[in-house]
Amino acid sequence: MGSSRLPGFYKMKMAERLRRLAEQLELSRDEMDGLGESGTLPLANADAMIENAVGVLGLPVGIGLNFLVNGEDVLVPMAVEEASVIAAVSLAAKIVREGGGFKADSDAPRMIGQVQVAELSNPEAAKAAILRQKDSILAVANGLHPAMKSRGGGAQDVEVRLLAVGAETHAIVHLIIDTQDAMGANLINTMCEGVAPLIERITGGRVRLRILSNLADLRLARASCRIPFEALADFGFSGAEVAHGIAEASRFADADPYRACTHNKGVMNGVDAVALATGNDWRAIEAGAHAYCARNGRYEPLTRWWIEEGALLGRIELPIQVGTVGGAVKANPLIPVLLRTMGNPGARKLAGIMAAVGLAQNMAALRALGTVGIQKGHMALHARNVAVSAGAKGSAVEEVARALIAAGEIKLHRAQEILAKMVAARGPSAEAT
Ligand code: MEV
Repeated sequence: MGSSRLPGFYKMKMAERLRRLAEQLELSRDEMDGLGESGTLPLANADAMIENAVGVLGLPVGIGLNFLVNGEDVLVPMAVEEASVIAAVSLAAKIVREGGGFKADSDAPRMIGQVQVAELSNPEAAKAAILRQKDSILAVANGLHPAMKSRGGGAQDVEVRLLAVGAETHAIVHLIIDTQDAMGANLINTMCEGVAPLIERITGGRVRLRILSNLADLRLARASCRIPFEALADFGFSGAEVAHGIAEASRFADADPYRACTHNKGVMNGVDAVALATGNDWRAIEAGAHAYCARNGRYEPLTRWWIEEGALLGRIELPIQVGTVGGAVKANPLIPVLLRTMGNPGARKLAGIMAAVGLAQNMAALRALGTVGIQKGHMALHARNVAVSAGAKGSAVEEVARALIAAGEIKLHRAQEILAKMVAARGPSAEAT
């Protein structure tokens, strides 16, 4: 797919960026159209996807640059409404690149489906009976989706937990299902519902809920990086100072759930943006990530940063339940094109890349927070947005933004005044330079 370093990409006009991407990825005319103006979800698809559809909500889609993951360059599509997320993650990825990039991996895509069994006269005996009949339960589950089994996935194991629910003890049956390149929600729910009558016969109990668990802790993704101090120097701070700022911010998140929550929000800025751009269920990923953070009985950060021998080290681990095939991916014609910009990863590889993006996004936030503060960077982007709202185009955007910051007043009326002066001095072309 070529390099993920596209120098000057952010300064290009959108049409030029599209040409640059098309050239690098050898995109067809149709794929190019999908990315540009005509790339909005067709109304007919929207109508088929949900109920009571009345329209389509647009979100900007951008490309996270500079990512080197397991020695491979990857362009990362991200859909997000928040300014500075993509700029920040691209800068962090560029810094991490100087230390050799990210190492990432993820577990086999094994999900948990839950079948809750109530009204048990002898819960221990019910548990033992379910475990004795494991093979029959798996056979029924896999009979519902033989194709998944023949691809090497499908239901693979059965576990039983006895759980006090109110005054009763319920047997919570976990079907462990390998969903291959699918996120797998439909498959899992179908299997849970499909094995329920057999489980009732085995236990003599009553099955209640039959649904996947989004606490996908068998399906973890991890990423790590090692950044030499030199690569971190910025804002007039030495690399060591920036690294210590990041490590201290990490310790703060370790110590305080109030901070850990915001720290993790920053991680999820990146993870969710990739989930959205690849047609994945970001609510499932969010739910899973935050439940995983609380697994030790206290809400903890998803990432950790520490110092070792002249370098800053970072690590992330979180459940990532994603697919690269299936309904949601096909429903929106833009998704396959965006997956193609990433080199069409399978679900496992995508999960590793998303972990790397989360780690990079977090590093970008802590790097600013541990030094000059987040607002300085945000202000520059906010000023650009105000300049665009005032009608500035092309290079005039930067010029107006700089003037707004210098004036210490980032307001629309001020931007309009500055732009009007530029037009008066240079003619109407000033707006469109
Ligand atoms: C803003 O979207 C995300 C941050 O608040 C994350 C953080 O505080 O680490 C900047």
